[in-house]
Amino acid sequence: MATQRTWLLWRVSVFLAALVPLLFWGWQVATNAAGPEPGRYLLLNIGIGALWLLLFTLSLTPLTKLTRWKGFALIRRQLGLWTLAYATLHMLSYALFILGLNWSLLGSELVKRPYIVVGMIALIGLAVLGATSNRWAMKRLGKRWKPLHKFSYAILGLVLLHFFWVVRADMQEWAMYAAIAALIMATRLPPVARTLPKIRHRFSRA
Ligand code: HEM
Repeated sequence: MATQRTWLLWRVSVFLAALVPLLFWGWQVATNAAGPEPGRYLLLNIGIGALWLLLFTLSLTPLTKLTRWKGFALIRRQLGLWTLAYATLHMLSYALFILGLNWSLLGSELVKRPYIVVGMIALIGLAVLGATSNRWAMKRLGKRWKPLHKFSYAILGLVLLHFFWVVRADMQEWAMYAAIAALIMATRLPPVARTLPKIRHRFSRA
C-alpha cells in the first residue's frame, strides 16, 4: 500500500518532470545553443510542450479507468495547471520575442496570422478551467463543474487547429498529434469508456 509520503513523492516527481524542459530550454538560450532565433526556439518548444501536457492531462481519466491506479487522478489538476503555465509562457514568448511588446503591431499581426486568435481563445479557455479547478470552485459550481471542464475537449480541438494553421509544409508531425488526440477522445466515447474497466478485469484475471 502506498503511503501519504509515497504519493507526495510522486507528485513532487511529476512537478519536477514538468519543470525540467523549461529549465533545459532556458539553459540552451542562456548558453547560445538555441540556434539563430532563440525567441522562436522558446516559442515553438514551449508551444509543443503545452500541447503534450494537454494530451497527458486528458489521458489521465481513461488511464485511471483502465488501471484504477490512484496516482493518475492525483496529478490531474497539477498537469492541467502546468498546461496553463506552458501556454501562458508560449503567449509571453510571442509577445516578447515576436511582437517585441509593441502592441500597435497586434492588429496587423492578427490579420497576417489569424491562427493567433484561435490560440488566444484556447488560452482563455485554459485559464477558465485553471481558475475553476480548486475545491472552492468545484463546490460552488456543483453539477455544472463537470460539463464546464468538458470544454477541455474543445480546447484540444482549438489547439490542434491553431497548430494545423501554423504548419505549412510538413504535416506529418501535426498528423501524429492529431492521431494521439483522436485516440484519447475515442476513449471518452461511452461504448469505449465502458470497455476500459472490462479490459482491466481481463488483465487482472490473466
Ligand atoms: C495567446 C495565445 C497564443 C499565441 C499568441 C500563440 C502564438 C503562436 C505562434 C506565433 C506560433 C508560431 C508560428 C510560426 O511558426 O511562425 C505558435 C505555434 C504553436 N502554438 Fe501557439 N499561440 C497561442 C496559444 C497556444 C496554446 C494555448 C497552445 C497549446 C496549448 C499553443 C500551441 C502551439 C503549438 C503546438 C505550435 C506549433 C509549434 C511548432 O510548430 O513547433 N499555442 N503559436
